[in-house]
Amino acid sequence: MKNIAPSFPRTRMRRLRRSEGLRALVMETRLTPSDLIQGVILREDDDPADIPAMGGLRRLTIGESVELAQRCVNINLAGLALFPFTKSGDRDEGGTLAFDEDNLMCRAARAIKAAVPEAVLIADVALDPYTDHGHDGLMGEDGTILNDPTVDALIRQANVLAGAGFDVVAPSDMMDGRIGAIRDGLDAEGFEDVAILSYAVKYASAFYGPYRDAVGSRGALKGDKRTYQMNPANGDEGLREAALDVSEGADMLMIKPGLPYLDMVRRVKDAFGMPTVAFHVSGEYAMLNAAAEAGAMDFDAGLMESLLCFKRAGADAVITYGAEHAAKLLDG
Ligand code: PBG
Repeated sequence: MKNIAPSFPRTRMRRLRRSEGLRALVMETRLTPSDLIQGVILREDDDPADIPAMGGLRRLTIGESVELAQRCVNINLAGLALFPFTKSGDRDEGGTLAFDEDNLMCRAARAIKAAVPEAVLIADVALDPYTDHGHDGLMGEDGTILNDPTVDALIRQANVLAGAGFDVVAPSDMMDGRIGAIRDGLDAEGFEDVAILSYAVKYASAFYGPYRDAVGSRGALKGDKRTYQMNPANGDEGLREAALDVSEGADMLMIKPGLPYLDMVRRVKDAFGMPTVAFHVSGEYAMLNAAAEAGAMDFDAGLMESLLCFKRAGADAVITYGAEHAAKLLDG
């Protein structure tokens, strides 16, 4: 400890907790709407809206996402991270729809940018919403997820998304070497100003369960993602992942999931001093909902405490499905 204070009874820690005013005076971390990125699950007009696993959260049509983007700008949220729901009939082995300039993600980005140009839009880059096997990459004949062919596919996907107007592409696939390859691919097409938010430290996690329902991958996914996503047991490995992505040109680093991995948020922030983003993932949001519905805790209080703690751990921004709700609570 830097300052060794005299001990009790000269020091009484409760002196500065006596009143709201004193507590505010010594508050070390403050959450603001500009720390929060709204997670959005998109749908076509005739797709189902309800995501039972996610409580009250609904998939949004392009029209609804434009309205949401306007509200997000009005309340100073940092941005929107978009993810597409895809029907099983629109999926195939190679994830072809990922490269279609008129897919749901691209149409949404163009519509939002036309109506709300100042909205910061972040696109997930990975094939899992589009493959019939539900994996983030291309599958070889023996069932392995092929690294280098997948990277080539991700370059194409990132360029299509950049062309539609996304400000930030966020590779969430965990293939080796994809950050540098996507950077070169973007630059070659004149997208040198499109930023890369790397899902650098991404674990193979049970907490993504509700997301798989949300984008329509649950039934599709064969096996698990442990040959490319990280083992939750490993911390040093996460620093190596982050170091590689920094060296390949990542502009920002992400840690995912959120609360069980706050140690990694702190370690990555301290090690690299990079803009660091944490993802409060679907399972964390669903747990808060379920606990509130069971009468076990207050949803709003649990959400605000969670988000504040991401900041205390060193996150510069948090992606959460509760961003708009949290911003309203901050507004009082
Ligand atoms: C897919 C992707 C996932 C999430 C974001 N991008 C799921 C996965 O890796 O299986 C999870 C988001 C969430 O749980 O909220 N590449």
